[in-house]
Amino acid sequence: MTDAPAVTEDNTQSLTIRDNRTGSEYAVPITDGTIKAADLGKIRVDEETPGLAVYDPGFVNTASCRSAVTFIDGDKGILEYRGYPIEQLAEKSNFLEVAYLLIHGALPTKAEYDAWEHEITYHTFVHENVKSFMHGFRYDAHPMGMLMASVGALSTFYPDARNIDDPANRHMQIVRMIAKMPTLGAWSFRHAQGKPFVYPDNDLSYTENFLSMLFKMSEKKFEADERLVRALDVLFILHADHEQNASTNAVRSVGSTQVDPYSAVAAGVGALFGPLHGGANEAVLRMLRRIGKKENIPSFIDGVKNGNERLMGFGHRVYKNYDPRAKIIKKSAEDVFEVTGTNPLLDIALELEKIALEDEYFVQRKLYPNVDFYSGLIYEAFQFPPEMFTVLFAIGRTPGWLAQWLELVQDKEQKIARPKQIYTGERRLDFTAASERWA
Ligand code: CMC
Repeated sequence: MTDAPAVTEDNTQSLTIRDNRTGSEYAVPITDGTIKAADLGKIRVDEETPGLAVYDPGFVNTASCRSAVTFIDGDKGILEYRGYPIEQLAEKSNFLEVAYLLIHGALPTKAEYDAWEHEITYHTFVHENVKSFMHGFRYDAHPMGMLMASVGALSTFYPDARNIDDPANRHMQIVRMIAKMPTLGAWSFRHAQGKPFVYPDNDLSYTENFLSMLFKMSEKKFEADERLVRALDVLFILHADHEQNASTNAVRSVGSTQVDPYSAVAAGVGALFGPLHGGANEAVLRMLRRIGKKENIPSFIDGVKNGNERLMGFGHRVYKNYDPRAKIIKKSAEDVFEVTGTNPLLDIALELEKIALEDEYFVQRKLYPNVDFYSGLIYEAFQFPPEMFTVLFAIGRTPGWLAQWLELVQDKEQKIARPKQIYTGERRLDFTAASERWA
């Protein structure tokens, strides 16, 4: 018996499911290589029992949205933003143009780019009260915590941001957030250093201005080596989006409540902070330091294989091949080290990669270097302390979070994100008041 109708005459675009509990058969439509979880919900033993659901901790095999922002083929190691290969964007574009591409879905004309660059440049300043409350953090506050709090706090400075149905209003908040992120990131850094905050310089490019806010002291005008500016700009491009990763999922999940975009992006910053996500670059540096010298690598690898450690910067949920971003970063590291001198940890990283790529444990599990394996080495060459690495990731990821948020709020199929659970706890216990229990 077929309870649900097939979608095509020959049944080729449907999945026949036989429920052995009841003997019923169901033809579930297949669209874009997926079946709808809601269709499975129609499969039930009787009216009282809930319909069939999917158990998928970590969303390992669940699509949560349709998206036209970023394409990844993890087996082949392909990454494209709006259809453009990451290698070409990293070589020929700049971060602001890539941000435009992600947000608008197409490359800008010259006039569009100029207007975009102007808008972003002129929104880099933040309200003076933001500065005051950033001063209120403890001297040793982690910059990611400061960034998360200050991005969230922007929602109080721009209450109009709650009007998420108005396209012009959405655009304004997107411009503000991309523009202000470097200011907040740089000030988190300066706070930890006990140095005065540096205001944005509108004569500088996006990335050069960020470096100025980080490192300027008493000089009249901050000047950075062009090769370093370019390297950081490329790193921002490489981090700009990565489809439904943990932090983007956090942005979408919180955004699905129709809250303002600052609150949604603050959730993304929080998710990115974790060592399994953006925090991995910080963890890689600490790991390399702990290994200390090449001779210690074999025992470290043994520890990983015995399950006592993780090789940070290796492995990826989606890539079962070399992360294309890691390839570009490895090359970028050479350019940076030409300016700054090499990082002694690079030798350990290269040797670690060589050994791991030949080792059966890693080969079998398809574990390759990911974006975080080499990025920390570059950041360190810039004199960033490890706590700042994830802040740099967050600045780069902001256009991606916002492009995904924009897609979410305009997607009629989206609903408030609210997963199901399999309840494993007690039921119907009798409650005795504390005064009686403790008597
Ligand atoms: N070191 C050692 N073993 C690993 C590693 C690793 N880095 N990554 C995965 N494995 C093993 C894991 O133990 C498991 O083995 P087994 O099948 O014997 O249980 C197998 O490989 C599959 O791993 P998983 O944990 O089920 O894979 P996942 O898709 O849930 O996790 C990951 C992906 C990125 C969280 C994980 O690879 C990891 O923890 N890597 C280290 C942290 C890291 O570099 N994160 C940055 C990710 S890229 C940038 C970003 O997203 O921010």
